[in-house]
Amino acid sequence: MIIIKSRAEIELMRQAAEVTALILRELSRVIRPGISTWDVDRFVEDTILSHGMIPAFKGYSGYPASACVSVNHQVVHGIPSKKRRLEEGDIVSVDIGTIHRGYYSDAARTYPAGEISAEAARLIATAEASFFKGLEFCRAGNRLSDVSAAIQSRVEEEGFSVVREFVGHGIGRKMHEEPQIPNYGLPGRGPRLAPGMVLAIEPMINQGGWEVDLMEDGWTVETRDKKLSAHYENTVVITDGEPLLLTI
Ligand code: MF3
Ligand code: CO
Repeated sequence: MIIIKSRAEIELMRQAAEVTALILRELSRVIRPGISTWDVDRFVEDTILSHGMIPAFKGYSGYPASACVSVNHQVVHGIPSKKRRLEEGDIVSVDIGTIHRGYYSDAARTYPAGEISAEAARLIATAEASFFKGLEFCRAGNRLSDVSAAIQSRVEEEGFSVVREFVGHGIGRKMHEEPQIPNYGLPGRGPRLAPGMVLAIEPMINQGGWEVDLMEDGWTVETRDKKLSAHYENTVVITDGEPLLLTI
């Protein structure tokens, strides 16, 4: 069952998401060569707490940090570390979430550290573009997989691939609610979108093949071919008109 949120609930999620959006904007100047992925986590956690909110990821299934910081061929769920210093040319995916009065927000971006290759920049831009292509289908009455199919074709037309093992999700009083939202698939399937649904839509896309592996730390996910990966996510409200982007 997909939970429909009331206006009041959406207002709380908007407030949660406002802090997430603010942090994601600030991260574009925080992330640079020389800082560690731990420093990124400190910034994220301190800012969430200073706004009186709770970091959604810390302690979630035992996850040890407030941000997931995934560098280069790391896809998602990279654990921040003092030992991992960013270098010129790295691309850095940061995924964060907040809880405000019991309601969640969830969003991610991929950032360049200094100057990056043209191919890396195109990968990052394609993750974002595929999200916005999917967003065009986020309208009441459409089928959920219309969104998935739009994301997949936007990614594949660039010659990149879509991660299969991780998907977007409904969000609300829990970080992960129904439905699951794959970033691939045929259109015209799945539930119909309806006003009041809140969805975390999050293409994770790879420069090479779609296959990924879980590392021995039990969290970090990497591309099997060790090529680059990028991630772009927002918390989105379905309305009776244009979708509402909470985390921008
Ligand atoms: N943003 C991730 C998701 O959409 C959640 C991070 S996993 C955590 O599923 F365990 F670190 F929280
Ligand atoms: Co998510």
